Amino acid sequence: MLIHLKSVDSTNNYIEKNALPAGTIVWADSQTAGRGRGSHSFSSPEGGIYFSCLFKEGKETSNGHLSPNDSNLLTPKAALAVCMALEEICRLEPRIKWVNDVFLEGKKVCGILCEHIGNKYIVGIGINTSAERLPEELKQSAGGIGDVPKRIIIKRISELLFSSMTDAGILSGYSRRLGTLGRMVSFLYEGEERTGTVTGINESCNLVIQTDSGIVTLSSGEIMTI
Ligand code: BTN
Repeated sequence: MLIHLKSVDSTNNYIEKNALPAGTIVWADSQTAGRGRGSHSFSSPEGGIYFSCLFKEGKETSNGHLSPNDSNLLTPKAALAVCMALEEICRLEPRIKWVNDVFLEGKKVCGILCEHIGNKYIVGIGINTSAERLPEELKQSAGGIGDVPKRIIIKRISELLFSSMTDAGILSGYSRRLGTLGRMVSFLYEGEERTGTVTGINESCNLVIQTDSGIVTLSSGEIMTI
């Protein structure tokens, strides 16, 4: 089921608050209180693509249900689904910035917020279309994918997200699109700023970084390319 709203506070909130069947997609033309990871907001003016997909806990992954095993790779699967859809439909070459931002030509064009609330897994995806419509303070770091067929993109991303993929398939697809592979990055580790070279991801999609004092594996956090 696809629910299309003109405006809503946040499509993730809408799914959280309403009783909806597994597999539901909620799409809004704009959000008045779009949320990002942590305590960040997500700018959601009209023109962008804002939607959330609902999975419910299940023994197996099928028909909008998600098994506990498969929930670990839900965020990387979402980033991969966004990239694949943009490649297929828009002929773009997006890159993933670990863990779940999608970049185009060095600028963030998509953010993903996965939440596990009660028996629901909510995958919220926000894609900027026009860079001009973004707030001034974001124009340095964020871009847009241009004028695109929104409904077709939402349908394709959701289809890929709800489809069954093996862990190996998700990890190899994700890895091939990892923008920071081989790059020097800085990151916070145990309260200290560290630097190193990204060598890849492991089986849990943690980021593997070679530093002067050995290999560091990050399960969360933010990296900066230097
Ligand atoms: C981030 O970049 O930190 C994540 C941004 C996620 C934004 C999407 S837009 C649809 C859904 N509804 C929200 O309030 N947030 C997500």
